[in-house]
Amino acid sequence: MSSLAITWYGHATFVLTSPGGKRIVLDPWLSGNPKAPAGAKIDKADIILVTHGHSDHTTDVVTIARATGAPVVAVYELAGWFGSKGVKDTRGMGIGGTTDVAGLQISMTPAVHTSSVDDDGKTMYAGLATGFVIRMEDQRAVYFAGDTALFGDMRLIRDLYAPDIAILPIGDHFTMGPDAAARACELLGVRQVVPMHYGTFPVLTGTPERLKKLVEPLGIDVLVLKPGETAN
Ligand code: NI
Ligand code: MN
Repeated sequence: MSSLAITWYGHATFVLTSPGGKRIVLDPWLSGNPKAPAGAKIDKADIILVTHGHSDHTTDVVTIARATGAPVVAVYELAGWFGSKGVKDTRGMGIGGTTDVAGLQISMTPAVHTSSVDDDGKTMYAGLATGFVIRMEDQRAVYFAGDTALFGDMRLIRDLYAPDIAILPIGDHFTMGPDAAARACELLGVRQVVPMHYGTFPVLTGTPERLKKLVEPLGIDVLVLKPGETAN
């Protein structure tokens, strides 16, 4: 087994490569993403996880699912919507559930946010917004929060799944900012945090520097990636 690799494509789009070589695509948005590397493509996937319906998390889901045949995991209503758009393999699930996908344990967590999809100009209900915990073959767990505010039950995510790494939004305005994200790190008990969902638009003002200032004194490592960069 090799180590876990994390590649950021800007905003909330990541590809995790598990120690067993499985590729987990998170909230894919490449088309029109101002922070995605020019010409970026995701053409290999074993699992596609989608936290909620907003276009900055879903724009490339159907394209990547069609190209790779990878199952799309999302909350029940959103998974159904992807099915109606031609995704063959959808795994609709509910918050609190855990399911095996491609040999990895995927758990769906709450998020404090909204969720809808734009369907030919109509805004449609897409179930609740969610996050995920991905348990790797070596038992390490990554918590991908999705878009969310800070919430106290992050302590229960720690109790239930003991994540090692958290990928957290810090941009503020639509989600928590760095100060709340620092509290999230404490509730989650993680040793490493990867900031996301900042700098994409002018309103997303939270910075990784602010997060570092708050959590590095606590011994928590802040892994700041550049779009297109991979950390092992
Ligand atoms: Ni959102
Ligand atoms: Mn968003």
